[in-house]
Amino acid sequence: MNKFIVFNFKMAPVSLLEAKEIFQVFKKFSENLKSYKIVIIPPYVYLPTAEENLEKEYALGAQDVFWFNRNSITGEISPKMLKSLGAQYVIIGHSERREYLKETDAIINSKIKACLNSNLIPIFCIGEKDRKKGEPCLCLRIKKILFEQLNYALRGIQIKKSSDLIIAYEPIWAIGSAQSENSEETQGIIALIRFWLARRFSEKIAKNLVILYGGSVNSQNISSFLSSKEINGVLVGRASTNKTELTKLLKKLIK
Ligand code: PGA
Repeated sequence: MNKFIVFNFKMAPVSLLEAKEIFQVFKKFSENLKSYKIVIIPPYVYLPTAEENLEKEYALGAQDVFWFNRNSITGEISPKMLKSLGAQYVIIGHSERREYLKETDAIINSKIKACLNSNLIPIFCIGEKDRKKGEPCLCLRIKKILFEQLNYALRGIQIKKSSDLIIAYEPIWAIGSAQSENSEETQGIIALIRFWLARRFSEKIAKNLVILYGGSVNSQNISSFLSSKEINGVLVGRASTNKTELTKLLKKLIK
């Protein structure tokens, strides 16, 4: 399976002109990245430009979605609108939205259902807030947090095939910080998520569902995550919109 590299632009860059410059960086590397599944997720407002410039070479996604296609929700964007702009993936349950927009597990559950009903693939984010000093990643406290997030957000949801959903393990303490999880511990957490998936869905889905790592992935550490067989790819945040760092990171992928 090709490794997934998902680029979450978050709320950047500040202008369309800069977004076009970032798209140009991706374009420059397109011939060399064919052995990866690259998903570019800019803010909504740059999606039409991304579609014009990148849709042939890369997959596109959105950072959020509303949970109905109904047309009277001011300020929201529906699954159908995203599909019409070429989006195939949607990030759901990102910790920044949980924190700043008070997204609950119930909202996240509705959004995952809306994506699945519209043939959009949710990239569902889970992760613990903090890691106590010396605490192993597979301690009971962290297992409980992750299982609760999975239980609530996937309540009532049936996955038909493993490609219907992607899970991103993003420990919140590693997002936007200078610190990332190491690849060995990430493998342990991924095995734990697969254990949950096997019990909730099936062995087959547990084995094949794509599970990513996210949290301070950059040009320095990306290879350590990608070299692990158990980690199916990464979710890159800040490095997506810093042209110098993005160039360095893309160069690492073609080595
Ligand atoms: P970061 O963000 O790479 O800037 O830590 C990751 C994310 O929020 O998905």
